[in-house]
Amino acid sequence: MNVLVIGNGGREHAVVRALKNSPKVDKIYAMKGNAGIAELAELVNVDYCDVKAVGDWVDKKGDVDFTVVTPDDPLALGLVDELESRGHRAFGPRKNAAIIEASKAFSKELMKKYGIPTAKYETFNDYEKAAAYIETCPIPVVLKADGLALGKGVLICKTREEAREGIKEMMLESKFGAAGNTVVVEEFLEGPEVSCLAFTDGKTMVPMITSCDHKRAKDHDEGLNTGGMGTFSPAPFFGENSAKEVMEKIMLPTMYAMNAEGRTFKGVLYFGLMKTKDGYKVIEYNSRFGDPETQVILPMLKTDLMEIFEAIVDGRLSEIKVEWEEGACVCLVLASGGYPEKYEKGKAIAFGDLDEDIVIYHAGTALKDGQLVTSGGRVLGVVAKGADVEAARQKVYKNAQKIHFDGMYYRSDIGVKYRDVQRD
Ligand code: AMP
Ligand code: GLY
Repeated sequence: MNVLVIGNGGREHAVVRALKNSPKVDKIYAMKGNAGIAELAELVNVDYCDVKAVGDWVDKKGDVDFTVVTPDDPLALGLVDELESRGHRAFGPRKNAAIIEASKAFSKELMKKYGIPTAKYETFNDYEKAAAYIETCPIPVVLKADGLALGKGVLICKTREEAREGIKEMMLESKFGAAGNTVVVEEFLEGPEVSCLAFTDGKTMVPMITSCDHKRAKDHDEGLNTGGMGTFSPAPFFGENSAKEVMEKIMLPTMYAMNAEGRTFKGVLYFGLMKTKDGYKVIEYNSRFGDPETQVILPMLKTDLMEIFEAIVDGRLSEIKVEWEEGACVCLVLASGGYPEKYEKGKAIAFGDLDEDIVIYHAGTALKDGQLVTSGGRVLGVVAKGADVEAARQKVYKNAQKIHFDGMYYRSDIGVKYRDVQRD
């Protein structure tokens, strides 16, 4: 069958590579893809946030059997609904379910209503009321813009003054655009964080192996928030008790809650969790694969990804046995100097002699006159598997030194954290 993959980052490169390994898949189209994806798929230059244009392209092409919608924005805009309404098969939640990521106010209300553990919060549409609340709430406090803000709509305010400034920036100065019209003011939680992703067809929930992201730009989780500077899998502290607690108290209740709301979720549901002293709590939901989590999860998947996608769309996920490799996987992101703020593009990328078992996922790359160049803030993901996280980490760092572009920078501590957190 021929498959269209929507998106253009490292996550999509990982999805395309996994699909390429499926005996069921003949041809892959990628909209819009990048230079790495171009080696495995035919690139399609259509704006995937224009859902009607995507539908028109799929209709006209005539040979696309299945579409995988990976990024959050086209999901929130209803691309899956658009394709289904035209009689096409598409993987990903419909618009009414993708809201679980697209609106933090919605997801917080859902968790409150169905008793799913999360940080205490208040929602505000009115600046005066929010500002008054900030004067009395416990500090530190977390401010979250309601809509999609590229992972940057969250402010952790350590002092009351920072909180006053933050609420002003969000609600009066529109620093996060319309996303800041509604703000969730949330209790500050502490503990190790884990990304728990799961496949679900609304009836069955199949967890993937766990992973840990590194959102801050600099070592020791300092610097600005980014889209993710690296990941490792699995989370060392996540044992059988954790898996049971998360499934019973968070994953299944979320699936049932969405069904009860008439918003059945089919696709990949991402639970961003914190292990607090009172148990696991939800920090965020995403309605899709994580980036760069996917880059360490899919290399560990033994089962045919295309079979899983089809089973979810057909509502028969319970029939599939999803299996994972033993060991660990690490992804190190090589970024452009200045990211996540201002950075330059168009820098030539050079590879030395990389070890054979290294996988490179392209995120922000393009071909210019036959030369591979940078075209984004996060440029490449260097990925290796190993017997454990430390072994994979050594391989990744050894090979990252053989890659070069002007201004390239990366964190030196991916895969180090949580080593000492007790497993249970
Ligand atoms: P989010 O975009 O919701 O994933 O938030 C970005 C990051 O902010 C998370 O990965 C956490 O590290 C941090 N964060 C979000 N909410 C809280 C909270 N209630 N308490 C402490 N840290 C938080
Ligand atoms: N790695 C976080 C995300 O995909 O939202």
